[in-house]
Amino acid sequence: MDFRTIVITGASSGIGAALARSLAAPGRTLALLGRNAGRLEEVATACRSKSADCKVASLDVADRDGLSAFLRDLEQDGPVDLLIANAGILEGRSADQALEDGKVARRVLETNLLAAIDIVHLVLPRMRRERRGQIVLVASLASLVPLPDAPAYSASKAGLLSYGLALRDAVAPEGVRVAVACPGFVATAMAGRHLGPRPGEISAADAAERILSGLRRNKGMIGFPLVPFWLSRLSLLVPEALRRRSMKGTRFHVGG
Ligand SMILES: NC(=O)c1ccc[n+]([C@@H]2O[C@H](COP(=O)([O-])OP(=O)(O)OC[C@H]3O[C@@H](n4cnc5c(N)ncnc54)[C@H](OP(=O)(O)O)[C@@H]3O)[C@@H](O)[C@H]2O)c1
Repeated sequence: MDFRTIVITGASSGIGAALARSLAAPGRTLALLGRNAGRLEEVATACRSKSADCKVASLDVADRDGLSAFLRDLEQDGPVDLLIANAGILEGRSADQALEDGKVARRVLETNLLAAIDIVHLVLPRMRRERRGQIVLVASLASLVPLPDAPAYSASKAGLLSYGLALRDAVAPEGVRVAVACPGFVATAMAGRHLGPRPGEISAADAAERILSGLRRNKGMIGFPLVPFWLSRLSLLVPEALRRRSMKGTRFHVGG
């Protein structure tokens, strides 16, 4: 894939770090964003060992001004070819709660949905002018399967899916590609907070390869693993009582 300048949010860990490692190659510049400077630097070192140029920014995705200044600086050397909006948090009910509280719900929506839309709009104007570029939004199978134990997380990912697919059609005539990745369970730090069954869990490296393979085929929706992805899609079509019953074995709570 012909990407020269790549921006990855949430690159300090899990799927974002695996994507960075996989995309690292000579001639590429990787801009790695996250809050944890130490972990970001470890990922950058691994990418530099594959001869990629790395720029690291320890930033909260909610810091729109900080992101804007960083991207302005980065784009001095050329446009962003690939943005992967991957940063996200999993919050939900804890063991002693029946439902997450309102503050948690707001934080999840701000981080997973609004901040992702913000960064998209920071890179889009240049992509549209140049009539090229690729955006990937990392959602989840939870975008298709509302989780009673994490309502805001489900809503944030459903919002990302809807936003991304709509954006894809809006900017395709201008030469900009958009894809939404919908992973099932992936063994990362986030998964460690999901205290309950995690059927079909795959590694972060495997998830990264599946996302990149979907990009190579210009897929709009990159859902995996295949069986959970299709069961999740079909679950929206079955009667509500049946959908609810099928969710019984999936209950969980979020650990600290
Ligand atoms: N793991 C799964 O089973 C799974 C399944 C479906 C979808 N996903 C999605 O995949 C994406 C990556 O998750 P992961 O599993 O790789 O989890 P992870 O290992 O916990 O990584 C999350 C990343 O997001 C970053 N991040 C979180 N809040 C941030 C903030 N406010 N500002 C900047 N960066 C922030 C973290 O960086 P810092 O800690 O350095 O800030 C970290 O790099 C998320 O969007 C998640 O919802 C995960």
